[in-house]
Amino acid sequence: MNKALSPVDAAKLAAAQRAVEYVQDGMRIGLGTGSTAAWLVKVLGEMVRDEGLKVMGVPTSTRTAELARAENIPVVTLDEAKWLDLTIDGADEFDGELNLIKGGGGALLQEKIVATASDQMIVIADASKRVDTLGAFPLPIEVIPFGWQASKTLVEEALISLDVMGRDSSLRMNRDKPFLTDEGNFILDLNLRRIGNARQLALVLNQIPGVVENGLFIDICDVVIVGHGNSKVEVYDINNGTMEEETMGQEVNKNLFQDDLD
Ligand code: 5RP
Repeated sequence: MNKALSPVDAAKLAAAQRAVEYVQDGMRIGLGTGSTAAWLVKVLGEMVRDEGLKVMGVPTSTRTAELARAENIPVVTLDEAKWLDLTIDGADEFDGELNLIKGGGGALLQEKIVATASDQMIVIADASKRVDTLGAFPLPIEVIPFGWQASKTLVEEALISLDVMGRDSSLRMNRDKPFLTDEGNFILDLNLRRIGNARQLALVLNQIPGVVENGLFIDICDVVIVGHGNSKVEVYDINNGTMEEETMGQEVNKNLFQDDLD
């Protein structure tokens, strides 16, 4: 049976298809985590298989590593790759300066290390991720399990003097147990509602003992590609200050990803 992609999946696929136009033979590529990044891995896998593209992938999570291996994309660690040409990842929110909230999938630590060890970071997203001001999506921060409740209290106290609308935080759960990151840490989700000064918040959070990293990506992302359900894409390039619109062709690829639709 040949089902059509849902509008959201068509949007994610269109963004992924546009993103791989940045990929060149021989590149070392950071592979993001999440449902949008999964489309990217599949499109890249198709290029490896059908076009003989030669790349090395550095996954940002065990989930993405498994997916990349299943797609026959050669996988190496960041230490083996040393530095990356490009990272392509999803995001939970992006603003007009291409600052991001990431970590909805719990992989923010590896994602931030990989993105900052790259010459260029491209985010692929559907239009629902675009916001005027960051903060409606709860900001994930990774904390070590030891004394996490003390870290939570310190975070909430620090938020009093910062430009945010909410201060509640919650420990992310996986059924009845704390969600564990790939590093064995916990995630606190901060319900800030509106982040007035994301740069300041990111700096303050990382000063708090027990906080390993926060999900604010400030001045890291170079390009955001927004996909739409009708296969249109918008490409925002912060370095060039440009926004371009294009329409991607999806007909062939729809069938290639049929397994995911059944
Ligand atoms: C994982 C992330 C993801 O990129 C983010 O959650 C977006 O995921 P999706 O593409 O499934 O909406 O930061 O830690």
